[in-house]
Amino acid sequence: NRRYVIASIPGDGIGKEVIPVGQEAADAVADRHGFSIEWRPLDWSCERYDRTGRMMPEDGIDQVKECDSIYLGAVGWPGVPDHVSLWGLLIPLRRDLDLYANVRPVRLLEGVTSPLAGRGKADIDFVVVRENVEGEYSEIGGRLYRGTEHEAAVQETVFTRRGVDRILDYAFELAKTRPRKHVTSATKSNGIVHTMPFWDERFEAAKQRHPGVGTAQFHIDILTANFVLHPDWFDVVVGSNLFGDILSDLGPACAGSIGIAPSANLNPSRALPSMFEPVHGSAPDIAGKGVANPIAAVWTAAMMLDFLGEPEAAKTLEKAMEAVLTDPAARTRDLGGTADTKACGQAILKAIAG
Ligand code: NAD
Ligand code: IPM
Ligand code: MN
Repeated sequence: NRRYVIASIPGDGIGKEVIPVGQEAADAVADRHGFSIEWRPLDWSCERYDRTGRMMPEDGIDQVKECDSIYLGAVGWPGVPDHVSLWGLLIPLRRDLDLYANVRPVRLLEGVTSPLAGRGKADIDFVVVRENVEGEYSEIGGRLYRGTEHEAAVQETVFTRRGVDRILDYAFELAKTRPRKHVTSATKSNGIVHTMPFWDERFEAAKQRHPGVGTAQFHIDILTANFVLHPDWFDVVVGSNLFGDILSDLGPACAGSIGIAPSANLNPSRALPSMFEPVHGSAPDIAGKGVANPIAAVWTAAMMLDFLGEPEAAKTLEKAMEAVLTDPAARTRDLGGTADTKACGQAILKAIAG
């Protein structure tokens, strides 16, 4: 019998509310499709930091390396500085497991209203492919002349040829699996004088390696405008770590809510486990109220099952989630509904049961 071992890290805030819903839904489709999941719960979080001074144990990365994948909620909570919590847990997971491809689909789903006037299902269907381990998120830099009037902060950006080529190749390969076969590159080579012209050069080289895929490139400033004005232009959008981060909140907002947006942090070589997490964070403003939208976590679980080699189960889960979104009574507040997290989760289980 097929069995998968999955590390579950609910983390902080609404992560602890939506991950249980995703697990229950994944268990339900596993049951229907003849496999099982062994969840390994891990309490790695800001609470753990308060207790122990560490977000995760010293051998944390080794612990998750033994699993088939990692399912994570959100990291970050008021009281622990974000750079401490994130660089103590989320960022090391991404970097030490070499999860270089952050794949963030954006789709306007039936039953969800886009804030963009007149836009329907056919207009918004793209994937943000975000470089996930280098670029603007680098450890190189420092603080100078602290406390003086010359105080300064320096942050280096690192783009390696290997790092850029492999994310571009990932984006092109993904485009080949989609009907429109098109890749848009997010750049800023007019203003960022060293790294972005290099990114453009590597994009040119990637085009040569992948004939038959249509391409476009925009500077990040006008690209954000075009997400709003012309979402229908986009199929696969590839960007650096920071640009991809920004685009992957903007995209889901155009498609109705950040509360539905899933993501996969992939190590495409499969030499190490990949990690799956909603795009959203711990949402301290609504945490503890039981009103968070669990759809992002559920869609994320579907991406995980698909990557683990259970595409049929993933499809069942996606269909259930899409059916629930068409029912106003099952939608959460961020989507204009009245359901709480539990009610939405129950509706998903019901839809899975058929
Ligand atoms: P956030 O995504 O947590 O929240 C932004 C807004 O979206 C809030 O108003 C929130 O209520 C709403 N929202 C988010 N998810 C929702 C959901 N599922 N249902 C309904 N509404 C939802 O972003 P933030 O406020 O910038 O960050 C809060 C904390 O989370 C910070 O510590 C930040 O560093 C962290 N964070 C973590 C991750 C991650 O672990 N992957 C991602 C983003 C932010
Ligand atoms: C995300 C988040 C993280 C990121 C933060 C919390 C470090 O915004 O996953 O999109 O910037 O990658
Ligand atoms: Mn983000």
